[in-house]
Amino acid sequence: MDEKTHQYHEQAYKIMKQKGVCCWEKLLSPKNNEIDDQSHQFLKEVLTKKWFPKQGRAIELGCGTAPILRFVCEKGFDGVGADISKTAISMAKQQTPAANIRFERMDVCAEEIEKLGKFDVVIDGHCLHCVVAASNRKKFLKNAFRILNQKGILIIMTMCGTVNKKQFLKNSRGEKIVRDILYIPNKNGFLPIRKISVRKIITEEIQKAGLSILMAKYINPVGKDPFGSLMIAATKD
Ligand SMILES: C[S@@+](CC[C@H](N)C(=O)[O-])C[C@H]1O[C@@H](n2cnc3c(N)ncnc32)[C@H](O)[C@@H]1O
Repeated sequence: MDEKTHQYHEQAYKIMKQKGVCCWEKLLSPKNNEIDDQSHQFLKEVLTKKWFPKQGRAIELGCGTAPILRFVCEKGFDGVGADISKTAISMAKQQTPAANIRFERMDVCAEEIEKLGKFDVVIDGHCLHCVVAASNRKKFLKNAFRILNQKGILIIMTMCGTVNKKQFLKNSRGEKIVRDILYIPNKNGFLPIRKISVRKIITEEIQKAGLSILMAKYINPVGKDPFGSLMIAATKD
């Protein structure tokens, strides 16, 4: 696990808690919905597919304060939210009165995830791009495969290159991108916080983990956002 990157998330949630902000999207702008429009659209589409489970167990890996998990569970799933951040888990619990959703603080790249059992739906709601090291990304996807039921569906919603460099520089507050890694400045130099690979690389990572892609959508960078998005639904072979 990447301790320093996790501290960055923990810090961000502490700021959200202090400011009374419920989730990342609202931190970006109070006018935003809790789930960004692209992810919301993709989830709505996937949920109507005939291959999508109609009920069962769903888990979100890196659930944060859990707006995505709550949305999916409203459709008839029992949920588990897993996140490494203590503050995110406590905020998620506060925001989730539903009795059919529980939360676990854990590193989703660690093998202990198996103790949570098997799931019909495994969701990556923008966590995989926070897992920077290649070895940890392998573990993340291996875990997603392991805990997925045979006909289960893995949803991946992740940042994707190529980056709109002009827009990136316009927004930048000292961040830099070297190859496909986004770094933020900190007191010790630079901290790697995001892996923004191109579609081909992300697709290969998922396939190498033994998963078959059923549906994929690439969305170009739009507006002030310099990064593209890749949305994937996959299943076991
Ligand atoms: C960009 S946030 C997205 C949170 C949430 N899915 C949402 O949409 O609001 C990524 C989350 O992944 C969590 N995370 C990153 N690496 C993790 C790991 N190895 N194990 C568990 N959680 C992790 C972070 O703490 C953070 O809450």
